[in-house]
Amino acid sequence: MNNEVKNLLLLIGSPKGDKSTSNSLGQYILDNINKDTFKTDKIFIPGELTKEKAKNELITRVNDADLIILSYPLYVDTPPAVVIKAFEFIEDNLEIRPRKFIAIGNCGYPKASTIKDSQQICKNFAEQTGMDWLGGLSLGKGAIIMGKPLEKSGFMVNKVKKALNLTINALVKNEKIPKTADEMMKLPIPDWLYVFMVNNIMRYRAIKNGAYGKYKNNPYS
Ligand SMILES: Cc1cc2nc3c(=O)[nH]c(=O)nc-3n(C[C@H](O)[C@H](O)[C@H](O)COP(=O)(O)O)c2cc1C
Repeated sequence: MNNEVKNLLLLIGSPKGDKSTSNSLGQYILDNINKDTFKTDKIFIPGELTKEKAKNELITRVNDADLIILSYPLYVDTPPAVVIKAFEFIEDNLEIRPRKFIAIGNCGYPKASTIKDSQQICKNFAEQTGMDWLGGLSLGKGAIIMGKPLEKSGFMVNKVKKALNLTINALVKNEKIPKTADEMMKLPIPDWLYVFMVNNIMRYRAIKNGAYGKYKNNPYS
């Protein structure tokens, strides 16, 4: 490993921006990674990649990066549309050179296994663009974190922080993310309690927005 400082770019793929779990997870890495090894940068992937300014900014910073961390939520079993659009745009415009890529997915369902296919999409993107895929992390029950900094999220995120610390160690050593890190990426709350809590949060929001009892409404019936 040489002593050259590398450019690390964190891409946040959640439309919720800095209020997202994706941001909490990615920002923890930026805050805790050794700044002698990495110069860090972050972009919230813009919702509209039609504007020249947004496109130029994204591709310039991706081109500068030696290591890219994508942190994204699962939307209908895939990365959100903003991420897919960004993948397509980057693939068409990237200056190919050695780069590393990792992806951190989080989802609303209790089980992280639903994230698997979206991680494969991220891996395919890395390989298509000549990047070295260093692996991914998947977190279920992601709605619990909801944009709170991990440092302020209490004991509940202890294992998540351990998993991210293992990831940081691997990145500093230029190594693949160890499988143990992904296995450790868990929130210690029983599935039934999580479902109960999330259902009640959704109910509360529906009442607050005058939508209670209208869950099943759809424009086609
Ligand atoms: C439009 C939409 C689609 C979603 N689809 C899924 C899904 O297919 N599977 C799942 O587990 N969670 C799904 N979720 C829940 C999010 O993945 C979950 O709330 C996640 O923690 C949000 O992360 P973020 O705060 O980083 O955006 C969906 C949420 C939205 C808004």
